[in-house]
Amino acid sequence: MPTGLDKSTDDPRIRPVDSSHIADLIRIADETNLSAWTAQNYLDEFQMPGSIMLRLESDLNVTIGFVVGRIVEAGVVETEQQAEIYNIAIDKSEQGKGLGQLLFDAFIAKCREHKVTSVWLEVRESNEKAIGFYKTNSFEHVQTRDNFYNNPREAALLMKLILK
Ligand SMILES: CC(C)(COP(=O)(O)OP(=O)(O)OC[C@H]1O[C@@H](n2cnc3c(N)ncnc32)[C@H](O)[C@@H]1OP(=O)(O)O)[C@@H](O)C(=O)NCCC(=O)NCCS
Repeated sequence: MPTGLDKSTDDPRIRPVDSSHIADLIRIADETNLSAWTAQNYLDEFQMPGSIMLRLESDLNVTIGFVVGRIVEAGVVETEQQAEIYNIAIDKSEQGKGLGQLLFDAFIAKCREHKVTSVWLEVRESNEKAIGFYKTNSFEHVQTRDNFYNNPREAALLMKLILK
């Protein structure tokens, strides 16, 4: 199982997340109506094998976006790995400028390094913006999970990307 996936990528704006950034992640998640992770959730995620936690920094070294996901074992074939994206968000004022794409590409680059063949995520069915972003990035809607979310109660679209 891969570990130590917290190194930064080639793009200097993409940096690893450490515990000093958790408040930033919580702020951005709150502003963008993401499912609320507690500080403890993020701390726990640091300990998970295969965890990928990246943040995007502005020129002023302020965190303006992040992605959290994980590479997980899949099936019995050792070279087949799956990844899951749990959260990806860009500060509201910075959306639509290609920055989400930058973070997503960095996440996928890490997946490719570790021979991931499929990436999975769930998204609220009303979140048209994110669904559009994922479809632009070749995700397919494979299933609907009713009553998946609370506050408000809502279905999730399960989406899958095949990495070739
Ligand atoms: C989803 C999110 C991360 C996208 O980040 P972003 O910085 O706004 O997106 P980008 O500007 O990098 O767009 C990247 C690509 O996605 C496309 N895209 C973005 N929004 C889109 C939409 N509503 N419909 C269709 N395509 C869309 C862009 O057109 C662009 O493709 P292109 O390069 O071919 O033009 C951002 O909107 C966000 O933080 N949303 C709130 C949090 C959230 O809902 N996260 C998902 C939880 S599951």
